[in-house]
Amino acid sequence: MTTPEQMRNAWDKFAVGYDEAVTPFSMRVAEDALRRVDIRPGMRLLDVASGGGALSIPAARLGAQVLATDFSPAMVGRLNARALDEGLSNLESQVMDGHSLQLEDDTFDISASQLGIMLFPDRPRALGELARVTKPGGRALMVVFGPPPNVEAFAFFLGAMRATVPGFTPPQNSPLFSLQDPVDLRREMAAAELKDIRVETVDHSLEIQSGAHLWDMLTSAAPPIGALVADLTEEQKVGVMQALDGMLRQRSAGDPTVLKMQVHVGIGTK
Ligand SMILES: C[S@@+](CC[C@H](N)C(=O)[O-])C[C@H]1O[C@@H](n2cnc3c(N)ncnc32)[C@H](O)[C@@H]1O
Repeated sequence: MTTPEQMRNAWDKFAVGYDEAVTPFSMRVAEDALRRVDIRPGMRLLDVASGGGALSIPAARLGAQVLATDFSPAMVGRLNARALDEGLSNLESQVMDGHSLQLEDDTFDISASQLGIMLFPDRPRALGELARVTKPGGRALMVVFGPPPNVEAFAFFLGAMRATVPGFTPPQNSPLFSLQDPVDLRREMAAAELKDIRVETVDHSLEIQSGAHLWDMLTSAAPPIGALVADLTEEQKVGVMQALDGMLRQRSAGDPTVLKMQVHVGIGTK
């Protein structure tokens, strides 16, 4: 079993790749989610598993007082650099495990986790923490991936791996898709004693230039995907990229190819 320390080290190693390849896209996802939660200037917002700031940065741009937290110091470093670049003085950050927030009860108007708590080994505990630090009447916001066929970048990648790597079996129960069923998201938010829960399914578009682009994005995106390719030979890696090129060409003749990235956005009131 992987220890929390090993998980944190793994995310530290992915921080640069994730931040360069994924944060710009996941910022667009967060901008949409923040519109749905009706964020306003001056509100206090907590971001759990903030990564490079995909949700914290847009929230701070909208005038919220933001606290970004993540257990990876390298991710928090990337976020701080971005906030400094933009001159955002209304954004603070702390290295913190989302399973046990070192924060007072009833503090935030909005407590959010985008593509974060869905990955945690103990989601009920983390959702309980998210609710605990939310003010009565405040809202919790969760953004999670939909099912793998609707997160087409992942589906294409698995297809290319199957076509290229003998004996490859797609992972069962990947933490990336732990809340792919909106019924589960609603149930887990309700178990954290959140009320008036609404879950909306949103299809985003991801523009992919080539097989190599999709490969770079996915293999730098998260330790669970990095683990799938860790033992491939150079030849197999090139083979997977070529298979991806073929699949992308089949989908659309011109560049770039647009893939669907589906998320569920859950909003509940404390
Ligand atoms: C897929 S990234 C999402 C980052 C960002 N929220 C976004 O939307 O781009 C997952 C993040 O969860 C963080 N993370 C994973 N387990 C965590 C934990 N137990 N406590 C806090 N952060 C955690 C990782 O360090 C990583 O930054």
